[in-house]
Amino acid sequence: MMNIALDGPSGAGKSTLAKALAKKLGYIYTDTGAMYRTIGLAVKRRCIEPTDTDAVAAALPEIKISLRFENGEQKIYLGEEDVGGLIRTNEISAYASKVSAIPAVRAHLLDVQRTIAKENNVIMDGRDIGTVILPHAQVKFFVTVSDAERARRRYNELIAKGENVTLEEVATAMAERDRQDSTREIAPAIPAEDAIFLDNSGDFDAVIDLAIAIIRDKAKEAGETV
Ligand code: DC
Repeated sequence: MMNIALDGPSGAGKSTLAKALAKKLGYIYTDTGAMYRTIGLAVKRRCIEPTDTDAVAAALPEIKISLRFENGEQKIYLGEEDVGGLIRTNEISAYASKVSAIPAVRAHLLDVQRTIAKENNVIMDGRDIGTVILPHAQVKFFVTVSDAERARRRYNELIAKGENVTLEEVATAMAERDRQDSTREIAPAIPAEDAIFLDNSGDFDAVIDLAIAIIRDKAKEAGETV
């Protein structure tokens, strides 16, 4: 199976890139951030503090997350509820970042994510895919974009959803979340030693073409067909 890790900070355009690549290659796209967000949502609904390690860990067995593919699109379910439309708010981003620092949460999702990668040709988007989840992925990308451009993109997304935020608030929240994500003790969001940096600030089609060329080369080296 071809396993492609796509890591990088929030707002770097990983999901757009990963979806486009998965479509071109006929691979499964897995958005691991959505899994942490869904745990964040479930924790909030239970009125649990996202920093309360023991309470979050105790709730995990009741939090049933599943990815389903419907009409070629990935949907994320909490139990039988499609929560895709509820997990991309600033509030849930903060919950997700906090619960993602809890070892029990990461251990819980590690198995789910590895199983998907074992059974499918996959492009997995996250923070620790190349370093922890799929250390043997044939291709590891680390996606980068300037901080200002990342904040602008996330701001536009939130405004389009009708959230009442300023660009400055978004930039500050993003910087805080990046700081938490990259300095935490467990699975910090850092590039794998063998990661290939992909600058996603410029022309999207050019980035896709470059990524596809790299994937084809790496697949050939690994004796896989693309
Ligand atoms: O990619 P995203 O913004 O949807 O991620 C939501 C949060 O989950 C973010 O704070 C980082 C965290 N995360 C993580 O710790 N590990 C992953 N593999 C994916 C996301």
